[in-house]
Amino acid sequence: MTLIPLRKFVTSSIQLMKRGKRIPPKNFSDVHLKGTSQFILRQLNDPYVKRRRLENYRCRSVFKLLEIDDDHKILHPGSTIIDLGAAPGSWSQVASSRACENNQDGLVIAVDMKRFPPLDGVYSIIGDFTTVTVQNKIEDILRENGKSNKVDVVLCDAAPKASGVKTMDHDIIVKLAFSAAKFAVQQLKEEGTLLFKLLDGDKSVQLKQKIEVFFDTVQNIKPNASRKDSSEFFVLCKGFKLKNKI
Ligand SMILES: C[S@@+](CC[C@H](N)C(=O)[O-])C[C@H]1O[C@@H](n2cnc3c(N)ncnc32)[C@H](O)[C@@H]1O
Repeated sequence: MTLIPLRKFVTSSIQLMKRGKRIPPKNFSDVHLKGTSQFILRQLNDPYVKRRRLENYRCRSVFKLLEIDDDHKILHPGSTIIDLGAAPGSWSQVASSRACENNQDGLVIAVDMKRFPPLDGVYSIIGDFTTVTVQNKIEDILRENGKSNKVDVVLCDAAPKASGVKTMDHDIIVKLAFSAAKFAVQQLKEEGTLLFKLLDGDKSVQLKQKIEVFFDTVQNIKPNASRKDSSEFFVLCKGFKLKNKI
């Protein structure tokens, strides 16, 4: 792999922007924006970026979960929560603080392919959550804690490193969401909750239809903290119906 010096990369990226050749992707990824003056300006003007630092969260996306939980009450003291695609760990910070409120014995398992600094009271697994090996590791932790098939909440904010090609990114995220949903169906307890991220696209509707049979309610949510120009949204599935499990 050839490494391009940062200054050269930033300059060439800005030059291309000036010539009007850059088309920023309309999805969750900043992959083509990062390092440009446009990106820096956006960060400086973003109230959530400032709040993240002040409130000591690891990532801006924390405000999406905080907003969803404040509105829909999905994380409770004593809950068992699995956070798929967890790095750098801000969703797990919230999950752990809400699950352990009032000195309750909540259990949080955070999984990501990337290494991330450990969090107090959170089990971390580094690996691909779509693989059997990683799912077995999650099950081991659940078993050791007497929580096999007794998970209250599965969260999935997993996203691939975006290519900027909308249909391709959409297909990948649908596969991740499908895998998270399949795992959730195996591990959730009656009335459990699944929350996952998607990008707009034709396969989102099909995925939702497949999942609907397992839950009382399935709804799309676009939190205020999710950027308006991003096609990401979240799907909140509440009231898992154990009797419909295959
Ligand atoms: C948007 S970030 C998650 C941010 C996180 N919710 C937080 O608040 O800190 C998406 C993460 O999904 C992870 N990811 C993508 N595919 C994955 C997979 N198959 N298994 C595990 N992690 C995955 C990426 O490595 C990335 O860290």
